[in-house]
Amino acid sequence: MRHKVTLIAGEGIGPEVASATRRILEASGVLIDWEEIAGRTDSSSEQGQVINQAAVESVRRNHVALKGPMATAIAGGAPSVNVALRKTLDLYANLRPVKNLPGVSSRYDNIDIVLVRENTEDLYSGLEHEVVPGVVESIKIITERASTRIARFAFEYARKFGRKKIHAIHKANIMKLSDGLFLKSIRAVAEHHKEIEYKEMIVDNACMQMVLNPQQFDMLLLPNLYGDVMSDLAAGLVGGLGVVPSANIGDESAMFEAVHGTAPDIAGKGLANPTALLMSSILMLDHLGERSAARRIEAALETVYREGKNHTKDLGGHTTTQQFTDALIAALPKP
Ligand code: NAI
Repeated sequence: MRHKVTLIAGEGIGPEVASATRRILEASGVLIDWEEIAGRTDSSSEQGQVINQAAVESVRRNHVALKGPMATAIAGGAPSVNVALRKTLDLYANLRPVKNLPGVSSRYDNIDIVLVRENTEDLYSGLEHEVVPGVVESIKIITERASTRIARFAFEYARKFGRKKIHAIHKANIMKLSDGLFLKSIRAVAEHHKEIEYKEMIVDNACMQMVLNPQQFDMLLLPNLYGDVMSDLAAGLVGGLGVVPSANIGDESAMFEAVHGTAPDIAGKGLANPTALLMSSILMLDHLGERSAARRIEAALETVYREGKNHTKDLGGHTTTQQFTDALIAALPKP
């Protein structure tokens, strides 16, 4: 089956990792017609944070996008185009699987955790104001609608991918109403999925448990802020943001992207590691129903890392983006 996918290559190392990923996907035999488009209208300046409406329309039309990183001006300037894309397309579920990659040194072995983060509300609603000088207020929004739909997403994902246990992470002992509503909404969904073990854990204890005994976790379901913090914490258990994928998924569209940034220090030098975007593209293939190609690329990735001969500079090696890509294509099992 042919798929049409929007490709927002992004900026900095974005085009390099996007082109490597595209080559590997093509070599896997998956049939994708790429619709390549810029994420912002004025790519000459990150101050011109204007989302390209044509990119939004392209994702709406194709329902699936692969996206490289895009720069955001720090302290001031307009809001991030990355965030604007997720909001405009209502990509409410942030999916962050975290798993050891053989040959990548990390603090823990046998980690295989999927984090599902609510992506649209909580303290990220953007409702912040100065009440009087010296006093500001940030408003945390939790709705039954958003909590229920993220819970449905998580339980449905667990069912589809054979996951056994979900921990809802909260602070409902203190935020009794907001996190209380989050939990109440999830419990109602959990009632319909008795085959999946459902547990709850307070966020501070969950952080400690992640460090003491991360193997106890299978899936975590989190509101936006705790999800933001705990998904990077979890990535740190297996080697960091360079070796974990990410997806932002909504009812209509899904956007698969690496979590790292544009790496301006190495952009254009052929040194970028395409692993994170490639892993995100594996999630994309699963989403498209191309499970066989997804498993073959996963196997090639494991082979290349296990051999340990093709580590890029970020992982202490000397392999270029192109050499890494060639090695990966050579390691692809036959269909
Ligand atoms: P960064 O992730 O771009 O770089 C941090 C360090 O990691 C640098 O030393 C860089 O060379 C290295 N690095 C990152 N990705 C790499 C890769 N694939 N291969 C090899 N080395 C890699 O973070 P930084 O410097 O804080 O942000 C730079 C720009 O990226 C900013 O404008 C920021 O807003 C943007 N950004 C965009 C994101 C997105 O589009 N989703 C996410 C994070 C940052």
